[in-house]
Amino acid sequence: MHSNPSHKLIALVAVLLAAVLLSFSARRSIVVDDRASVDIDQPNASACRDCHVDQWDDFQDAPHRLALTAGSSAEVRERLLGQRFADGVLTWEYVAHEGGVALRCSGYDRLLPVDWVFGSGTHAQTPVSVWTNPRGETELLEHRVSWYPDTQSLGATLGQNDDGSPPVDAKYGIRAAGLLHPPAAARDCFRCHTTSLQQRPQRTPKISQTGVSCARCHVGSEEHVAYQQEAGAAAPLESWRGLTPRESINRCGECHRRADQFTPDELTIENSRLIRFAPVSLAQSKCFTVSEKTDRRLDCLTCHNPHQAAATDPAHYRKRCLSCHGDGQTACSEEPPESNCLSCHMKKVEVHPHLHFTDHWIR
Ligand code: HEC
Ligand code: HEC
Ligand code: HEC
Ligand code: HEC
Ligand code: HEC
Ligand code: HEC
Ligand code: HEC
Repeated sequence: MHSNPSHKLIALVAVLLAAVLLSFSARRSIVVDDRASVDIDQPNASACRDCHVDQWDDFQDAPHRLALTAGSSAEVRERLLGQRFADGVLTWEYVAHEGGVALRCSGYDRLLPVDWVFGSGTHAQTPVSVWTNPRGETELLEHRVSWYPDTQSLGATLGQNDDGSPPVDAKYGIRAAGLLHPPAAARDCFRCHTTSLQQRPQRTPKISQTGVSCARCHVGSEEHVAYQQEAGAAAPLESWRGLTPRESINRCGECHRRADQFTPDELTIENSRLIRFAPVSLAQSKCFTVSEKTDRRLDCLTCHNPHQAAATDPAHYRKRCLSCHGDGQTACSEEPPESNCLSCHMKKVEVHPHLHFTDHWIR
């Protein structure tokens, strides 16, 4: 078939324009909301302990706190050392290296030190290696294998190749070992998995606290600590309850993603990618959109305490449903109210052989 060259040109211009628009909108949303990119050291969580013992205690096991761990830590060594995964063509294995752990991939001839581990292990943990390129920017290799709690062992990393085999183009070389992320994307990984971050992370990014800690969610923490220590003037902290429900879910959405980062045709029930993005899905639910116009408040905090792991008892959630749908307000045709509402209205969906996420589009 022949194609008209002017059509080709139009198509090229359209693609370029789309790319410019995309990069513009992505950059804008980061500038508006990137509280993590402030160049100062946020107060450390220990600055909060003396006065907020309960929140501090709860928080010790919170997935938010554990969302990022240094590769040199004893926990990482214990978890990864000796772990091995093979897919019939290649093997990936974690071995002792310079006091820490490194990945040995049969398709690549060098050891790759584990510099950081992403994820608390509640759902998964992905080791990464980082290095500084000649321009002084951090690049990141997301290892092709991750640790999963269901089998307590390695499997393919989500989003790389979900059946466990490497892509056909990557039997050899660094691509066999993992997925390479350029500086901007590497920075983004840290942006959502730390409390505060220096503008340009180097090999060891200047991270004041690994994981998502107090000051990341409590805007004004620094002033609050100073005030409280000077004999307890009024806490100048931004209050979450002062936010509208949409502002509140969008604040969580700075990392969990926001609906306004998607185009209208992406916001459909058929789009399975939305499963991973709770604020995006919740914002499509009638529970949210109709409640938003009333005094009944629905946001993430209706069901979750961000200082703890998510509750796993269906009765915890049923109580929340019935706070709005109790007393004859449930026209639910199927099941008496004492049952598990989630199994029909908020299903768990498999996104990977080792990973299930909850569909927050309540329907
Ligand atoms: C010296 C004691 C002290 C320290 C240190 C302290 N706080 Fe507080 N905080 C208080 C007191 C007292 C209140 C209650 C103030 C009030 O109700 O006006 C409070 C209230 C709060 C609230 C609730 C505000 C609201 O709107 O209800 C949050 C959230 C909070 N602190 C977070 C933090 C964080 C995060 C840190 C560490 C960065 C921290 N605090 C450090 C004493 C302290
Ligand atoms: C700075 C980024 C960031 C912000 C802001 C943030 N989260 Fe998270 N959240 C994460 C990361 C990263 C994880 C994954 C932790 C892990 O590895 O298990 C997570 C995990 C969770 C989980 C799953 C916990 C579990 O047991 O599986 C819930 C629920 C959650 N966040 C709710 C919230 C809520 C509610 C807010 C807003 C109040 C919020 N998050 C704000 C980054 C963030
Ligand atoms: C826009 C914010 C954001 C960015 C960028 C980001 N993450 Fe996350 N990550 C999250 C949130 C929120 C969660 C928890 C909810 C979920 O699982 O989607 C999470 C969860 C995880 C988990 C735990 C497993 C899981 O799916 O729950 C791993 C591992 C992880 N991220 C690795 C990475 C790596 C590696 C990068 C960079 C390539 C990265 N993340 C970039 C926000 C982000
Ligand atoms: C992922 C975001 C997030 C992190 C991390 C976080 N908080 Fe909170 N915190 C919240 C939200 C949201 C509320 C409001 C809860 C509500 O209104 O139901 C809150 C409420 C509070 C309160 C008011 C009392 C209460 O429990 O509702 C205190 C005090 C507090 N946090 C302290 C802390 C301290 C101390 C840390 C660190 C050890 C911390 N928070 C970490 C999001 C977070
Ligand atoms: C803050 C109040 C509130 C909470 C909490 C709440 N809902 Fe709703 N829900 C509503 C409102 C309001 C509507 C819309 C009713 C209407 O159409 O007028 C709705 C609609 C629904 C619908 C119909 C959806 C559709 O698309 O037709 C279902 C199903 C539902 N809710 C189930 C649940 C379940 C299950 C839970 C708990 C996991 C829950 N809701 C929690 C307020 C709430
Ligand atoms: C009506 C109740 C409800 C609301 C509101 C809600 N969630 Fe959830 N969420 C759940 C349930 C149920 C689970 C599954 C818990 C389990 O593992 O059994 C869950 C799990 C999660 C997880 C763990 C991964 C997964 O998908 O299973 C994350 C992350 C999360 N919620 C984030 C959020 C965020 C962010 C918000 C606000 C936009 C939010 N949730 C609002 C009920 C809710
Ligand atoms: C066995 C599956 C099942 C269970 C369990 C279940 N539901 Fe339903 N529910 C349904 C079906 C089916 C409908 C009708 C959906 C429709 O009309 O599209 C429905 C409808 C609803 C509606 C919407 C009614 C309307 O006006 O459109 C609400 C609200 C609701 N359920 C709440 C609940 C709550 C709360 C629970 C837990 C106490 C629950 N459901 C448990 C299957 C179930």
